[in-house]
Amino acid sequence: MYSRIAGTGSYLPAKIVTNADLEKMVETSDEWIRTRTGIERRHIATPEETTSSLSTEAARRAMEAAGVGPEDIDFIAVGTTTPDLIFPNVATLVQARLGIHDTPAFSLETACSGFIYALSMADKFVKLGESKCALVIGAECLSRVIDWTDRGTAVLFGDGAGAVVLTPSETPGLVTTLLSADGQYQDLLKFPYGVSFGFDKLRSGAKAGIQMKGNEVFKLAVNTLSRLVDQTLVKGGIDKSEIDWLVPHQANLRIIQAAAKKLDMPMERVVVTVRDHGNTSAASIPLALDTAVRDGRIQRGQLLLLETFGGGFTWGSALVRY
Ligand code: ACO
Repeated sequence: MYSRIAGTGSYLPAKIVTNADLEKMVETSDEWIRTRTGIERRHIATPEETTSSLSTEAARRAMEAAGVGPEDIDFIAVGTTTPDLIFPNVATLVQARLGIHDTPAFSLETACSGFIYALSMADKFVKLGESKCALVIGAECLSRVIDWTDRGTAVLFGDGAGAVVLTPSETPGLVTTLLSADGQYQDLLKFPYGVSFGFDKLRSGAKAGIQMKGNEVFKLAVNTLSRLVDQTLVKGGIDKSEIDWLVPHQANLRIIQAAAKKLDMPMERVVVTVRDHGNTSAASIPLALDTAVRDGRIQRGQLLLLETFGGGFTWGSALVRY
């Protein structure tokens, strides 16, 4: 038994913030942002929108594409690092919004790797026969954890959500997934406030935002993704020439180009959405996947490599026969 992607969906907030808009907020330039990151614009949630509301819209679209209704869903996993609340978790909020009852529903906090981690969990539930219709979501409202006065991070991130529905299949489907992490680098990328660590600094009015040593993260991301690509191909028993599409995490165009080079893939076979979405962390891969499915680039039967790297550090991949 395998799992297969029966449908994809995504949702972006209507509000768009361009590099020109950011030029008015911090000392930066459209040229710097474009050449260092590949980003030109990003979508930002309104105060009324939350991670669960974005997730719900993405889920509705994925369920419609899969031809399933709320009564069919029997498992919900959401990868997010920006939940609406500490609890209830985002998956249960989505469950309530969609009118789904009596299913497992949980969120995973593995930063940019959240969707791949959630996908891997769902794959196992389907393979074991414990789920016949799993909803897997990656969603973020990163705009809520950005220090908008810090030009080093404010230009990088965006909000959005993507989702897939997984159903059982006698043939793959998900060929293999690979997950890993290494906590020793936690100081290179973090949002350093929270429940047991304490909200005191936030309460005292100190500026709170994502903290990142971008240059060091960049190098580790490129090296780790290079290793991850090799390991995934070996685990899946696949030669790199067999891959039709690379669907990478969208943090920085230069990191994506390095991964494509490693695979000897021309950029025409790489799904790139970072220009329009920025880095949407756990949402970026399902957003990119849905974009390329809906515009007709990704076709049924094609082999996809999904790969990600993010805060923790955490990283992971999935080889998918779409
Ligand atoms: N506008 C103009 N100048 C800037 C800006 C900005 N927005 N931000 C930084 N600079 C300046 C710096 O101050 C520095 O100036 P200096 O040379 O006078 O000191 C100069 O630009 C170069 O800064 P670097 O940080 O070395 O620039 P770099 O080329 O490394 O690009 C970037 C920075 C885009 C952040 C890059 O390092 C990167 O993409 N890193 C990886 C990000 C990533 O993958 N994160 C993981 C996922 S995120 C997650 O998990 C939530």
